[in-house]
Formats: sequence, C-alpha cells, structure tokens
Amino acid sequence: VTDDELQSQLDALTTVLLAVARGRFDRPAPRSYDGSAVDTLTFLVNSTAEEVGFLVAELEREREELRKAQERLVEAAKLAALGELAGGVAHELNQPLTAIRIVTELLEDQPDGHPADRADKLSLIRRAAERMSRIVDGVRTFARKTSFELARTDALRPLDEALALFAEELRRAGIAVERRTPGGLPPVLADSDRLQQVFVNLLANARDALRTGTSGAPLRISLTASHQAEVVLYCVDDSGPGIRPEDAQRIFDPFFTTKPAGQGSGLGLAVSLGIVQEHGGSLSYEALPEGGARFIVRIPVARDEPLP
Ligand SMILES: Nc1ncnc2c1ncn2[C@@H]1O[C@H](COP(=O)(O)OP(=O)(O)OP(=O)(O)O)[C@@H](O)[C@H]1O
Ligand SMILES: [Mg+2]
Repeated sequence: VTDDELQSQLDALTTVLLAVARGRFDRPAPRSYDGSAVDTLTFLVNSTAEEVGFLVAELEREREELRKAQERLVEAAKLAALGELAGGVAHELNQPLTAIRIVTELLEDQPDGHPADRADKLSLIRRAAERMSRIVDGVRTFARKTSFELARTDALRPLDEALALFAEELRRAGIAVERRTPGGLPPVLADSDRLQQVFVNLLANARDALRTGTSGAPLRISLTASHQAEVVLYCVDDSGPGIRPEDAQRIFDPFFTTKPAGQGSGLGLAVSLGIVQEHGGSLSYEALPEGGARFIVRIPVARDEPLP
C-alpha cells in the first residue's frame, strides 16, 4: 500500500466519522478487503457508525413515546383537576342561579309592577346569566387548552384563582386559610391556567392531609409569596401530618399515592412538577418543623416580555 493510498483510506474514515458527528450513519467508507490494519479499522468504524445509528433511532423512538406518555399524563391530570374544579364551579354557579330564581319569582308575584322596577329586575337577571356564561366559558377554556403559552402574568392571579375554587369548601371543613402575600410582587412568566392547576393540586393535597385529622393541630393552610432574585417563591403549607420520610422521595413519581384506591390517582404532584419545569421553575417539598407539609414553587419573573 502506498502512502497516498493509505492517506485516502484514512481520509475516507475521517469522512465517515464527520458524517456520524452530523447525525448521518449511512455513509460507510469503502473497504479494500486486503487484510490490512486499515481495512480492519474501516470495518470497525463502519459497523460502529451503523450501531450508533440504530441506537440513535431507538432513542428517538423512545423519546417520542415518552413525550406522548407525558402528554397523556397531563390530559389525565387535567381531567382529575376538572373533577376538582367541578365542586368549585357548582358553587360559583349557584349564586347567580339563586338570584335569577328569586327575581323571577318576584316578577311572577307582581305581574303589573312598576315598569322601571321590572326593567331593574330584568337587568339583574341578564347580568346573573352573563356571569354564569363567563364561568362556563372559563371551564371550557380550561378543559380545551392543550398548548402551553407563557406570558407576563400577575404573580398572585394563578394562586388566587385556585384559592377561590376551594375557599367555600375549606371554610365548611373548618380549615383556616392564611394568605401572606406582599404587594408589589413582579409579574411572572407563566401560563396562568397551567400554574393555577399546580396550586389547585397543592391545595387539594393540603385539604386531603388535613381531612385525615390525625395531627391534632388546628386545621390551617398558609399561603405565602415572595420575591427572591429572579423568581417568585410561593409556599403552600398545611398543619396536617406531613409526609413520612420514606415516602417523601417518591411523592413526585407518577401514580405514587397513599390515598385509598379510587381516591387518589397519584398524578397531582407528578404533573405539577412537569408544569413548573416547563416554566423553567421548580417544585420541592420540605417537612415543617411543627409537623406539617410545605410545598415550594419557584417561577421565574417576567423580564421585558410584552403584555399579552
Ligand atoms: N400536603 C400533603 N400532606 C401530606 N401528604 C401529602 C401532601 N401532599 C402530597 N402528599 C402525599 O403525596 C402523595 C402524592 O400526591 P399526588 O398529589 O401526586 O397524588 P394524590 O393526591 O395521591 O392523587 P391525585 O392528586 O392524583 O388525586 C399523596 O398520596 C400523599 O401521600
Ligand atoms: Mg393530589
């Protein structure tokens, strides 16, 4: 073999390796089958490139599978969260519905009332109906939404909207809610509906923990928000029994639940973690010294993103 031939064989190998680096695995170098060391090397490089090609294809298939599984997970959790919302929605709808019923009865009882008074009552009915359709629209948007849109969002809006859905239920269960949130928090870069889902999940967990009533402490949920460097930090604390240390490392695993069959899907925290990560934020758990659970959500503040 001349030096020139050797050089061109080595060049061919370099070309294969460069192609591999660019993600092309179907460009084998020509072989001489002359039993030389370079031919053996060519054989090894060609078969390695082919093998890497198979592995990469396999990996891509798995990644696609994973992405689809994650999408299904989010859908499932959304359905669970919808169930959670249903209670709040029923309560929200009840108030305008009651108003409509009472005012309609008044109108029926006074068929020849004063025209101005009738007009007032009709307008009351119309506004109550409008309020109901706004609520229904809200639920529809939540149910349909599949895409993820980050926008400059009031830092307290997702928290307060989640809280509003639970307020009545928590009050009836004798659970006190403390909300300590300073004014002047910077806006966050968030998908408000998705972030709301995170707080709905955390509040549902806190409520469930307090329902077990095993800690003997007063039933309390504390919500705080604060601004730290580039993030808004939210804490959702409860005075429940907390989480056993051996469970604490598994709570973010999909389908991990300590709730009786049929009561918990074990998706709440897994999906919440996915959502905050899509925000470039984080979700973590800490045991409170007095025994309860603390979940910490960190969401990046919005910089100069335009208002939606
Ligand atoms: N605030 C909390 N106090 C005590 N345990 C908690 C708390 N939050 C979560 N956990 C524990 O973490 C587990 C997983 O929570 P996760 O929200 O993922 O699922 P789940 O609440 O069991 O079911 P799902 O949310 O799907 O209805 C719970 O079953 C519970 O054991
Ligand atoms: Mg849950």
